[in-house]
Amino acid sequence: MSYTGGRYDFHDKQADYARLAQELTALLAGESNLIANAANTAALIFDALPEVNWAGFYFLKGGELIVGPFQGKPACVRIALGRGVCGTAAAQRRTLVVPDVHQFPGHIACDAASRSEIVVPLIAGGTLLGVLDIDSPRPARFDEADARGLESLANLLLLSVRESSGRAGRE
Ligand code: SME
Repeated sequence: MSYTGGRYDFHDKQADYARLAQELTALLAGESNLIANAANTAALIFDALPEVNWAGFYFLKGGELIVGPFQGKPACVRIALGRGVCGTAAAQRRTLVVPDVHQFPGHIACDAASRSEIVVPLIAGGTLLGVLDIDSPRPARFDEADARGLESLANLLLLSVRESSGRAGRE
């Protein structure tokens, strides 16, 4: 099984997500391009979080989610709203924490190693832009502290691109 070991131990998740938020703020400073900032956000999360085998984005375009910048194994490209964990989180516009992907009806398996998953919707000014999706090979890897921490990181990404978010799908 191959996945990142992580640069933080996340024994104190709130503190480590706060440190990661500082890193991300510095990383995105001065840049507002969605693809560039999503790429660096995915890379930072994949590098920093322990026990993660996929981290990245799907963006909404033409009524479906299309894979964006990510780290991990090649993934399925298009996901319909309401399908899989990503499409369900997007349709319901809420963060989904899935402790066992095998128990989630319609889960889409991109990496067979994935056992648990968290998906955070990206919503700017009431508009759904896409989702942040993270997989782990460990069952029940994510909890509410991860949800709040990853929502804060997703929000930093949205803030960094807010001037251009209305054009996000066309850039
Ligand atoms: N498991 C996701 C699909 C995307 S991959 O995990 C990268 C889902 O069920 O929507």
